[in-house]
Amino acid sequence: MSSTTSTITDTSGAPQSGADGPFRFGNDLHKTLFCRTLLDTFNPYQPAVIDWPELDAEARDRLVSLPIWDIAVQTEGRAGLNVATYGQTVADPLVRKAIELNAFEERRHKLVLSNLVAAYGITLAPEPDYVVQGDPEWAFLVTGYSECIDSFFAFGLFETARRSGFFPQALVETFEPVMQEESRHILFFVNWAAWHRRTMPVWRRPFFELKVLAVWIFLIWERIGIARDVGNGAQDNNFTVTGAKSVGDDIGIAELIDICLTENKRRMSPYDQRLKRPAAVPALAGLARRFMRGGLKGARKDRLIA
Ligand SMILES: [Fe+2]
Ligand SMILES: [Fe+2]
Repeated sequence: MSSTTSTITDTSGAPQSGADGPFRFGNDLHKTLFCRTLLDTFNPYQPAVIDWPELDAEARDRLVSLPIWDIAVQTEGRAGLNVATYGQTVADPLVRKAIELNAFEERRHKLVLSNLVAAYGITLAPEPDYVVQGDPEWAFLVTGYSECIDSFFAFGLFETARRSGFFPQALVETFEPVMQEESRHILFFVNWAAWHRRTMPVWRRPFFELKVLAVWIFLIWERIGIARDVGNGAQDNNFTVTGAKSVGDDIGIAELIDICLTENKRRMSPYDQRLKRPAAVPALAGLARRFMRGGLKGARKDRLIA
């Protein structure tokens, strides 16, 4: 275990929210539960004191060659700004406090990633100026649903990299708190969305649903663009498409989805069962999986499930 794990502790424990009694999405109990779940599982680690494990030349080269670092840093930069900007518009003090923490954690992810790339000598492309696109609610929805998509695949890719040995164990342990934080964020986000749509004036709801639909179309369009970039030598944006092969020794998409589904369930399992879980991406992935052959077989299964 690296010394880092003494500064970053695992945050997957069940929250001590104290919320109890009759429960309905959109009521005060729901609000208290999803906000306190985020707030009470905060992990006070400091990026500056993370002791990045020393890697042998082969492991370091594998890490450096991953086509993700620019997009990962920029995504966290945008997420921090989007979440913080929306937080400033929220009137409810508890929800606002939780969203402010969410923004703090996104900015901290950016710092963690910046320190990681510096520690391993990875060169980043110049960062763009971060600006909020659209109104603050739109930006928050884009970041939230985007995280629901990306985290689902990231959980599976991270686990695949752990099982295959692509990521050395010390690095897995060092980075684990960031992964668990993303599961807290998407859990918080889907519950916020459920609460928000039930507490807004009735006349606003159809507009909100249209906005959510537009966000999904935007995100799917964006990802189709990302997939198209794969053949154009773009360094980034294509990690889910090529990532499985990078980290998992030619693991197939069916196998990856199986691992994503299992990991998603595992990472969500510690939290209060009354809370809503991110459902759309696992449901779509599960549906797509039904039409695919294959899975984990034979020697590869033994290796990956070890
Ligand atoms: Fe993040
Ligand atoms: Fe996040």
